[in-house]
Amino acid sequence: MESYGQEQQQQEQVVLVTGCSQGGIGHALAKEFAANKCLVVATSRSLNSMRDLEHDHRFYVQELDVQSDEDVQHVLSTVLEKFGKVDILVNNAGVQCVGPLAEIPLSAVQDTFNTNVYGPLRLIQAVVPHMASRRKGKIVNVGSVTVAIPTPWSGVYTSTKAALHTLTDTLRLELKLLGIDVINVVPGAVRSNIGNSATASYDRMPEWKLYKPFEAAIRQRASFSQQSKSTPTEEFARKTVATVLKKHPPAWFSYGYFSTLASIMHHLPLFVKDFMIRRVFKLNSK
Ligand SMILES: NC(=O)c1ccc[n+]([C@@H]2O[C@H](COP(=O)([O-])OP(=O)(O)OC[C@H]3O[C@@H](n4cnc5c(N)ncnc54)[C@H](OP(=O)(O)O)[C@@H]3O)[C@@H](O)[C@H]2O)c1
Repeated sequence: MESYGQEQQQQEQVVLVTGCSQGGIGHALAKEFAANKCLVVATSRSLNSMRDLEHDHRFYVQELDVQSDEDVQHVLSTVLEKFGKVDILVNNAGVQCVGPLAEIPLSAVQDTFNTNVYGPLRLIQAVVPHMASRRKGKIVNVGSVTVAIPTPWSGVYTSTKAALHTLTDTLRLELKLLGIDVINVVPGAVRSNIGNSATASYDRMPEWKLYKPFEAAIRQRASFSQQSKSTPTEEFARKTVATVLKKHPPAWFSYGYFSTLASIMHHLPLFVKDFMIRRVFKLNSK
């Protein structure tokens, strides 16, 4: 990153994105914000996963684990010192967590909440005083359509996203008083590394007891969002960034394969929804 002039500073919007590993949604969002003349603070747990952005002057690449208070404080103070502002925070980092709720280790549940719920809140609490002082800013939380149609084997992940949706709805009301817009970005099935990452964490789960006969179906849930019809990452990023950069962005933006079906299914009676999900997930007692 070259030195940052005062004029440049006033013109460009500074966007901080979490979870920017190559191949994922965060990486595509970072590139799309940069293509729209934003200066992007691309962050992830390891610099290695963002090597391709490192020597491009439009990016300031930083290591940031959303579970770490220290990382968040360090990155934010460095960014404020260097660029003087954060216009947009995108809470994108997230992890899946697959397994039957009756047996999944609580440590895995806690870890998922730490990343998907406390992570975004940690960043929000860190950045809000700055945005409030300018009475300006946008906070984007990346939720999921799965909240509208909770499916078996993904209850932990879905409940973290449901919590995030609720936090987002409340934040929208509370932060508007401070001049900050809050946007819930709700992806459908979008191509990314999430299937591979979820399968890798699934491989570290203990052997199921009551649910052993369902092992193959449970494992498949890890990569459910990664189908041939899943929306290309770049297409999702293009639509999302165009929406976020609007002068008056909407409170809710959902896009991607399954997103229309999910919003329709959300309104169906529970017994119809359960019937359909049982069919799709082949839930017969074994
Ligand atoms: N893809 C979909 O179909 C889909 C659908 C609905 C919602 N979403 C949501 O979209 C967001 C992006 O996911 P994705 O699909 O792009 O998955 P992904 O390719 O697996 O990307 C997830 C990103 O989050 C990072 N991350 C995980 N734990 C972190 C932590 N503690 N601190 C900082 N970064 C961390 C990952 O870093 P590492 O590379 O180090 O693991 C990676 O950069 C997530 O919130 C996800 O829940 C995705």
